[in-house]
Amino acid sequence: MKPYIYITRKLPEEVLRPLLDQYEVEMWEDENSSVPRDILLEKAQKASGILSMLSDTIDKELFEQSPNLKVVANLAVGYDNIDLAAANEKGASVCNTPDVLTDTTADLTFGLMMAAARRLIEADRYVREGKWKSWSPLLMAGMDIHHKTVGIIGMGSIGEAFAKRAKGFDMDILYHNRSRKPEAEETLGAKYADLDELLTQSDFVVCLAPLTPETKGLLQKEQFQRMKSSAVFVNAARGPIVNEDALYDALVNGDIAGAGLDVFEKEPIDEHHPLLSLKNVFALPHIGSSSVETRMEMMELCVSNIRAVLEGHIPNTLVNKD
Ligand code: DGY
Repeated sequence: MKPYIYITRKLPEEVLRPLLDQYEVEMWEDENSSVPRDILLEKAQKASGILSMLSDTIDKELFEQSPNLKVVANLAVGYDNIDLAAANEKGASVCNTPDVLTDTTADLTFGLMMAAARRLIEADRYVREGKWKSWSPLLMAGMDIHHKTVGIIGMGSIGEAFAKRAKGFDMDILYHNRSRKPEAEETLGAKYADLDELLTQSDFVVCLAPLTPETKGLLQKEQFQRMKSSAVFVNAARGPIVNEDALYDALVNGDIAGAGLDVFEKEPIDEHHPLLSLKNVFALPHIGSSSVETRMEMMELCVSNIRAVLEGHIPNTLVNKD
């Protein structure tokens, strides 16, 4: 019997081709919904490999009920949806998709910052709604990006790629990270700052940190109140890093000027979510790495990681190296 691989979302046939000879492959066929928990658990019970999405919870319960499971390949660089301790206990490999998505995610994050600063989405809506009756000097006037200060929380590869783009716009770059990045300081002129300094000095605060126990709930009411009242907050990392009630209050009270959000505490965000009632919020459906080229590369990387583990090799992008 061929080893069984379960894929939790419909992927293009061509990506799966390298698996089809040696493995029995099954996918959740609905492109627009996550696989229900009970079906995921049922499929996992016979799976040697799972290709998962960031929207799937791959927890202790799942690992414990899956006797054959050797590898989980997550279609994302973040793997906060996977219980690594449980994977280690089981001896299962967990893989992610770093590097291939770095530039694509940095592009989107920069775009989100620009859209929020220059009111691009609001302006598009204004034209479509037939409200544009004449040119006028301050029509949809936003704020400049160039020569402003950006504070990057989380200076991993994506943070550094974002900083590169910011340098091209003559921005002053502050960053806050677990460790100092001497190379980024030298080549990009980025300056290390403690969180408080970064929040008080930045015109744009951009969150690109992974979700970990240390970053969960990092940005609360107090942190938003430390920001400039003209500041724009951008989150392209993970929603739970931010207390959304505090963000909402900060936007309503004028503690900050606006927000560009690609991620939310609970995804997908409900259309009636209070943040979406605010004109100074720009919301995207978690599309940081979503270019066709990059998503195809991410899928291919997941497939090659699964094959590597099941064929007894070390996968390219293993998360639980110990
Ligand atoms: C990731 O890869 O973790 C991103 O959030 C996907 O866009």
